[in-house]
Amino acid sequence: MRILVVGSGGREHALCWAIAASPLCDRLFCAPGNAGIAAVAECVPIDQMDLDALVRFAKAQAVDFVVVGPEAPLVAGLVDRLAEAGIKAFGPSAAAAVLEGSKGYLKDLCAKYGIPTAAYRRFRDAGAARAYLYEVGAPIVIKADGLAAGKGVTVAMTQDEAEAAIAAALEQGVFGAAGAELVIEEFMEGEELSFFALSDGSHALPLASAQDHKRVGDGDTGPNTGGMGAYSPCPLGTPELHQRVMEEIIKPTVAAMQAEGRPFKGVLYAGLMITEEGPKLIEYNVRFGDPETQVLLLRLKSDILPALLASAEGGLDHMDLRWKDESALLVVMAAKGYPGSYAKGSEIRGLEAAGKLPGVEIFHAGTRPGPEGRVLSHGGRVLNVCGVGATTAEAQARAYAAVDAIDWPEGFCRRDIGWRAVER
Ligand code: AMP
Ligand code: GLY
Repeated sequence: MRILVVGSGGREHALCWAIAASPLCDRLFCAPGNAGIAAVAECVPIDQMDLDALVRFAKAQAVDFVVVGPEAPLVAGLVDRLAEAGIKAFGPSAAAAVLEGSKGYLKDLCAKYGIPTAAYRRFRDAGAARAYLYEVGAPIVIKADGLAAGKGVTVAMTQDEAEAAIAAALEQGVFGAAGAELVIEEFMEGEELSFFALSDGSHALPLASAQDHKRVGDGDTGPNTGGMGAYSPCPLGTPELHQRVMEEIIKPTVAAMQAEGRPFKGVLYAGLMITEEGPKLIEYNVRFGDPETQVLLLRLKSDILPALLASAEGGLDHMDLRWKDESALLVVMAAKGYPGSYAKGSEIRGLEAAGKLPGVEIFHAGTRPGPEGRVLSHGGRVLNVCGVGATTAEAQARAYAAVDAIDWPEGFCRRDIGWRAVER
């Protein structure tokens, strides 16, 4: 098969790495890709949001299957556009991507079909939102309805913070159209866990759980990021809990979307709060997590490609994925300054030697090829340095051994990825 992966991050590098290893894959393209992806796929310089050019390329190259990494082209309808052109793709239609694109839609769906989540109300009017806030009080969570580049959620511990978040979205318009409506919801207490499952529109196949570290600093301090590291499996994610999440949250969601005439195909990335009453849904993403996917794929024994194809074509009920007993842990190396402003274009040395250390795999997240085979930084999150081992502690030691073998003075990383899992 001829396959095109869309995206340019560590998630897409890991997907390309796994797909390239499949006996079903004859030729692999990635648009636009990065310096690491170029080692396993042919990179083509097409922006992930240039839907016309992506469809044209897929047709011209007789691509059989397109795997879409990021949410923005999904929400913009790339899978629908490819379907119109007769090209199969992994990922939801724009109609089904609404699970991530509108938090209000998701909450109403949960209410209608009895999927456990935080109690909520939807608001367009700031006065009404404030009245509700005074009625229920803090702590409380204020969410912009639409996609707000990961910045649309305020977990307000005080009434003042909540009022400021309401004013910012509904009166100052800081999120534009994405914040013209708010979801205000109950603050849930518990531990967070990410759970991944594939869906073919009528059946769901569990992948595994993983946990990322959102804060930039050691000890989970400092500003939020896209994720500074990840590990899988998680001590919290027992087989019993996975079973409950499938029965109470994932399967009911797949059935609900089918009943609503928006069958969901692709990956459901559920953000969960494990409360005293059991698992509750925080939100869905309609694409693979980044960097969680990298640790999941490192643990997967089976070929991922037939499962991705079954998600697009149906038949996930006949699929069975096998997992290694080992742990995988990933450390993000980011450009100094991230998640604020940072410089691009510095040289990274020592990647080859670091990648040969035992149990190590390095995925590129934001790099580009430089002259004479050099690798240059080209983003905020730049490298995903992964270790695989018998325990989380061993995976962690292997990942940091590789980090220490990489020569990149312009970069930094957290030194405590996986601390919760290692302590337990
Ligand atoms: P989201 O963008 O929806 O993933 O929210 C970002 C983060 O806010 C989540 O990862 C949680 O840590 C937190 N959060 C969201 N909703 C709630 C809630 N209802 N209760 C407590 N924390 C929440
Ligand atoms: N790691 C968080 C995300 O993929 O959104």
